[in-house]
Amino acid sequence: MRTILISGANRGIGLNIAYKELKEGNRISVGIRDLKSLTGSIIDPKKWPEGRILINKYDAFKKNSAENWINNTVDKFGGFDSVINCSGVLSKVPFLFNDGDEEEILNTLNINFLAIWNLCRLSWEQLCASGKGRIIVLVSMSGKRSKGDLAAYSSSKFALMGLCQTMKNKGWDKNIRISAICPSWVNTEMAQNISSIDKSSMTQPEDIAEICSTILKLPTQSVPFEIALNCNYET
Ligand SMILES: NC(=O)c1ccc[n+]([C@@H]2O[C@H](COP(=O)([O-])OP(=O)(O)OC[C@H]3O[C@@H](n4cnc5c(N)ncnc54)[C@H](OP(=O)(O)O)[C@@H]3O)[C@@H](O)[C@H]2O)c1
Repeated sequence: MRTILISGANRGIGLNIAYKELKEGNRISVGIRDLKSLTGSIIDPKKWPEGRILINKYDAFKKNSAENWINNTVDKFGGFDSVINCSGVLSKVPFLFNDGDEEEILNTLNINFLAIWNLCRLSWEQLCASGKGRIIVLVSMSGKRSKGDLAAYSSSKFALMGLCQTMKNKGWDKNIRISAICPSWVNTEMAQNISSIDKSSMTQPEDIAEICSTILKLPTQSVPFEIALNCNYET
């Protein structure tokens, strides 16, 4: 059984991953901004046996909330061995940004990059102690190539990919394995706000949950570092 921290677990990809991991028999500790947002959802703690799901307040902008989340998880579960980073925002700020757009650029970098760095940094001791640490990061194809003009978003994801590569180096001898998941379009609110691709033609969040579940089950020597998946053909 794994004990897994999951950010952004109240909707979209994170919610589907959390549900899948509960069904797999793992314990999850979710970090979300709005605690009430889980009421009635598929991971509503009332629907699951006691001790399987822990809910924590987590805001990527608040460093203390990451610390509190980790401390609470160690207190209640005695430790954890996996972190899945699903919180993120889309920004449409282009290369030729307007004066005043700097704030959105910095916010995007803070949520999509710096907050994930901080959460993984603070989790490191627990991941090392477990002897089987795993970090999964929802990067994006936008962290591997830049299509169009989503300069702020793409830059945050390229930075995140750099972080994943560094964590891979740092964690190797400690048996910590990193997996960067890089989809193009996934059928969630985020993609619906920007892509014209039909929802049913997009990668489904359940597919990403299936991939994460497989990653967590694979032995250390077979964990993929990067999974790039396109729902649409790219030249
Ligand atoms: N959907 C796609 O096409 C796609 C493709 C490639 C990569 N990705 C990446 O996959 C990840 C998940 O995306 P998604 O499609 O599931 O998006 P989503 O449905 O928009 O969900 C985003 C999640 O991030 C959380 N979040 C946003 N700002 C936060 C903050 N300041 N502190 C804590 N949590 C915050 C949201 O919480 P609230 O409900 O509180 O806002 C929500 O749980 C993101 O990193 C995204 O960039 C998505």
